[in-house]
Amino acid sequence: MIELAAITAVRAWSRGARAARRRIAFVPTMGFLHEGHLRLVDQARARADVVVMSIFVNPLQFAPSDDLDRYPRALDRDRGLAAGRGVTCLFVPTVAEMYPGPALVRVSPGPLADHLCGPFRPGHFEGVLTVVAKLLHAVEPDVAVFGRKDAQQARMIERMVADLDFPVTVVVVPTARAPDGLALSSRNTYLAAPERQLAARIPAALERAHRAFRAGMRDAAQLVGTVRRELADGGLAVEYVQAVDPDRLAPVATLSGDTLLAVAVRVGHTRLIDNIVLGAGLAADVTIAD
Ligand code: PAJ
Repeated sequence: MIELAAITAVRAWSRGARAARRRIAFVPTMGFLHEGHLRLVDQARARADVVVMSIFVNPLQFAPSDDLDRYPRALDRDRGLAAGRGVTCLFVPTVAEMYPGPALVRVSPGPLADHLCGPFRPGHFEGVLTVVAKLLHAVEPDVAVFGRKDAQQARMIERMVADLDFPVTVVVVPTARAPDGLALSSRNTYLAAPERQLAARIPAALERAHRAFRAGMRDAAQLVGTVRRELADGGLAVEYVQAVDPDRLAPVATLSGDTLLAVAVRVGHTRLIDNIVLGAGLAADVTIAD
């Protein structure tokens, strides 16, 4: 595995690979890798000859009150995990490399940020799209792989690529979960043992909602109310529970199989998000053995 820090270097490497007729897949991350990230690498390898992974904790997507400074970092460990899983090129730029000056021009997600996490994290998705656009320009991949765990982010990236004519195919892969159902996340490392137990109520509530849908429930307000109560009664501070259409991410009144049911909660100081496709439930996701 080669490791590069300069945009010009990764672009030259990638253009060299393309000249040698290699298909290039790209997996952007913020590091502190877990099995969810590594599943994206598996999918990337299945679709290309070489895999570029980036590790960059993007300041532009953190609000001043967010966890930028305490966001977990473990670059040495990440290097071993990435190399062991078959990453060909690790791109680890510094903040100065990515943002040599203030980021004046940014990519706007438009109305896709009006719902779900958008109102709770002003500017966050603008920061995400801006860095993903820059990373795509640096790497110039054929395929870029993202996780459905961050469904709103993935949808926005699909739309950015379509609306702004990026020459890349976006692949979105299922959420990787722990045996108790909790979606893997770098932020899970913040959770103390009792908080970790509380957090497992999130996937349990989503799965019960899936079963209610399967049993005939079609009223979005009713289902959302039930999930919200279950999470709150379980001791979780609910930020939102929303049933939205998977394309526009706008709330629906009547549920259908492809409705996205998404939640954000706070457990202690840690913010967790999760979602299911209502007709599919947790069965569509991947469980990772401990
Ligand atoms: P990060 O949180 O490190 O996640 C990197 C990628 O891994 C994202 O596509 C995310 O959806 C995916 N991922 C994380 N946990 C997952 C899980 N349990 N199952 C499946 N996929 C999972 O998302 C970001 O970084 C950043 O916003 C980024 C896109 C890199 C831009 O800075």
